[in-house]
Amino acid sequence: MQQLAVDLGERTYPIYIGPGLLAQPELYERHRGSGQLLVVTNDRVAPLYLDQVVAALGDPETLVLPDGEGQKTLARTEQVLDRLLRAGFGRDGTLVALGGGVIGDLAGFAAAIYQRGIDFIQVPTTLLAQVDSSVGGKTGVNHPLGKNMIGAFHQPKAVIADTDVLATLPDRELSAGLAEIIKYGLIRDLPFLEWLEANMDGLRAREPALLTEAIARSCRNKAEVVAADEREGGVRALLNLGHTFGHAIEAGLGYGEWLHGEAVGAGMCMAADMSVRLGWLGEADRARAVHLIERAGLPTRPPSGLTPDRMRELMARDKKVVAGELRLVLLRALGEAVVTGDFEPDALSRTLAENARPE
Ligand SMILES: NC(=O)c1ccc[n+]([C@@H]2O[C@H](COP(=O)([O-])OP(=O)(O)OC[C@H]3O[C@@H](n4cnc5c(N)ncnc54)[C@H](O)[C@@H]3O)[C@@H](O)[C@H]2O)c1
Ligand SMILES: [Zn+2]
Repeated sequence: MQQLAVDLGERTYPIYIGPGLLAQPELYERHRGSGQLLVVTNDRVAPLYLDQVVAALGDPETLVLPDGEGQKTLARTEQVLDRLLRAGFGRDGTLVALGGGVIGDLAGFAAAIYQRGIDFIQVPTTLLAQVDSSVGGKTGVNHPLGKNMIGAFHQPKAVIADTDVLATLPDRELSAGLAEIIKYGLIRDLPFLEWLEANMDGLRAREPALLTEAIARSCRNKAEVVAADEREGGVRALLNLGHTFGHAIEAGLGYGEWLHGEAVGAGMCMAADMSVRLGWLGEADRARAVHLIERAGLPTRPPSGLTPDRMRELMARDKKVVAGELRLVLLRALGEAVVTGDFEPDALSRTLAENARPE
């Protein structure tokens, strides 16, 4: 087992990574409050892993929600709150989020607002959740008018990432998680990027030691960024490499058509392309990034059917637009990213024109 810490003063918490962790009672015991426990999961994960968690926790309350991003709503959050109230949870209660990013975000949000905040433990079961969404304390749900528009910062007490659960993850979901892993290499960790180049085939073959290493190095990167900038006033925005392009792809296609990580894969390629057009990144480095993204099983261009104008319009709606200025995460080199609104507009136009495929 690997263990690292997200260093946030008195809110510091550990991330445990390794095989067989789901069923280890002492990991939960160390980080739960003194009161009742509620495990929140979904109807896809429950048949696979809920028994193990229930056995480790003794006799917790359980709540199984329907699967899917479409369930990440205020109405489902209210269902969690209802259960907590009906079961008489006090402020000493603890919520356990067992699932991917949807369950983690939703259950974390319920924990953030129930009686102004109770403890929660993240038990992420997708690669994306293990390397990204379970770490850093962003919780929330979607609104019909926008994704992740309602939420709160609320850090978990611990993250328990059991690598065994990745065995049942579909290949597409695995690749989507690899997109966020590659992202850490591209924005701030060239040695990790090189390690990924050497080990991508083994990762896709789900070699346990490689997965553990990739998750730990990703979490270390995310933990450092979050520790430096918990509420995204500065460097945390670097974690959005490829995301403004990616969100435009997701929204343009209709959410759910492409997985988030797939859109981010193509988005990172577009960010690299634009960085070359600005003269910031060498063509050989761009090609290296694109090749790695391709080897991860991810798309490297947007889907057909999105015009450059449509993509630009969707990008302008991104949450990261500050005072009307579109800010993008771009690459100065492999392993070095910047967030900036200060770029030649023509470089963006050409990036969209060259990459978007109207047909
Ligand atoms: N809070 C953050 O910082 C943050 C960061 C990135 C993404 N997110 C959010 O995360 C969500 C995406 O997370 P996700 O990619 O994990 O999606 P997800 O939670 O929908 O999981 C993907 C699919 O895999 C299933 N699944 C989960 N674990 C499984 C397992 N071990 N075996 C088989 N199937 C399994 C799920 O039930 C679901 O059908 C989005 O809502 C996104 O907004 C949040
Ligand atoms: Zn992402």
